[in-house]
Amino acid sequence: MPAPLKVALAGLGNVGAGVVKLIDANADLIARRAGRPIEIVAVAARDKSRDRGFDASRFQWADATTLADISGVDVVAELIGGSEGTALDLARATISAGKAFVTANKAMIAHHGLALAEEAEKAGVAFKYEAAVAGGIPVIKGLREGAAANEITQVYGILNGTCNYILTTMEAEGRDFGAVLADAQALGYAEADPAFDVDGIDAAHKLSILASLSFGTRIDFAHVKTSGIRQVLAGDIAQAKALGYRVRLVGRAEAASDGLLQSVQPCLVPVSHPLAHVAGAMNAVVAHGNFVGRLFFEGRGAGEGPTASAVVADLIDIARGEVGPAFAMPVASLADPGQANGGARQGRFYLRFTVADRPGVLAEITAAMRDAGVSIESLIQRGEAPDGGVLLVLTTHACAEANVSGALAQLGGSASLVGAPMLMPILDV
Ligand SMILES: NC(=O)c1ccc[n+]([C@@H]2O[C@H](COP(=O)([O-])OP(=O)(O)OC[C@H]3O[C@@H](n4cnc5c(N)ncnc54)[C@H](OP(=O)(O)O)[C@@H]3O)[C@@H](O)[C@H]2O)c1
Repeated sequence: MPAPLKVALAGLGNVGAGVVKLIDANADLIARRAGRPIEIVAVAARDKSRDRGFDASRFQWADATTLADISGVDVVAELIGGSEGTALDLARATISAGKAFVTANKAMIAHHGLALAEEAEKAGVAFKYEAAVAGGIPVIKGLREGAAANEITQVYGILNGTCNYILTTMEAEGRDFGAVLADAQALGYAEADPAFDVDGIDAAHKLSILASLSFGTRIDFAHVKTSGIRQVLAGDIAQAKALGYRVRLVGRAEAASDGLLQSVQPCLVPVSHPLAHVAGAMNAVVAHGNFVGRLFFEGRGAGEGPTASAVVADLIDIARGEVGPAFAMPVASLADPGQANGGARQGRFYLRFTVADRPGVLAEITAAMRDAGVSIESLIQRGEAPDGGVLLVLTTHACAEANVSGALAQLGGSASLVGAPMLMPILDV
């Protein structure tokens, strides 16, 4: 058997511990598949004495940023997290030491992935990040390799398990966001500070990476239009259901003729679409290729086992000698994404208003729609809002998003509205 691939692991938390356990459990199978054993030789974490569910004293311990300097180490896997600081220092040190680098860190890739990939290309080393998007789902491989021959026209999906868990629990139990979030935090499904997840930032990191891979463009996290799920009411979910939809936080990227459109926002998904059936903490990604047609990937987007599965898949690739370009083509070949005019995007929309219960309100809203050129498809006035007032829900026929925004601007400051309106696109794909 050829010499083992020697791995240093930075971080022994959920993901790092999962990698140790997976390699311990499946070492023989992995060696046969990789053509040589994969051996963890060195590790770094903050607390050496912490019980991690395995014997960590068998590994050499070192400061994280020095792992790449350890003689004999072939690859460093960064499983610490954070877009800057130790993770980024370690990435740079590993690549400049001429060693392969693996990470699960979507925040770092969204911000620094291109620069790191460029350095990795110059150094001729592998730079891999399968675990960074949709955890255990092999979507990076799917797009980078399996669908590499296709022009991808659209990529979208459910990219944050915490949000999907909250939305599907709201749907099943008819409760509002705040109560379900509090339970999710108590159960450990949501962080004490949930902002990264529930405000859509985590999904936006992942979307920006998927968009680059799909369209051959430079990562452009700064231009992902991002809104989270805090404003979604149980009433929205109930009304969407009555209309034949489910509410999901959808990350979506499209290559329009004038540039890239990237958004992360709650959307109404028709019950006939596979994304509507993605429940709990699951993730899913859909890509449309011009020869392969629609691809649908679903699986666990987080957790020790699924994420470790993706990290070790990268290590197996490296053990086999695979050093392809990180973003499916050399960084110099990636195009400038440009920025499409989102307002021109045609689609149908769901609008929810919380209105004062008095005559004339409906007329005011429908007049604003008429003035902005928005044609109403359905209108329901039913149910009380949690903060008083009445919920008024309408869906539009297809129109430009700018027209809907125009109608909302006209209604801005109206005494008929109690609270801010909620706008959700309807996913018609
Ligand atoms: N959790 C998931 O399901 C999941 C899914 C996909 C991607 N990811 C990504 O995977 C990465 C790790 O996530 P995680 O959930 O495993 O995080 P975690 O449980 O918080 O683990 C982080 C680990 O990093 C160690 N660490 C922190 N600062 C360090 C430093 N300065 N030097 C050395 N070690 C340090 C910690 O040490 P101590 O243990 O001693 O505190 C801990 O072992 C993140 O980039 C995350 O976004 C996670």
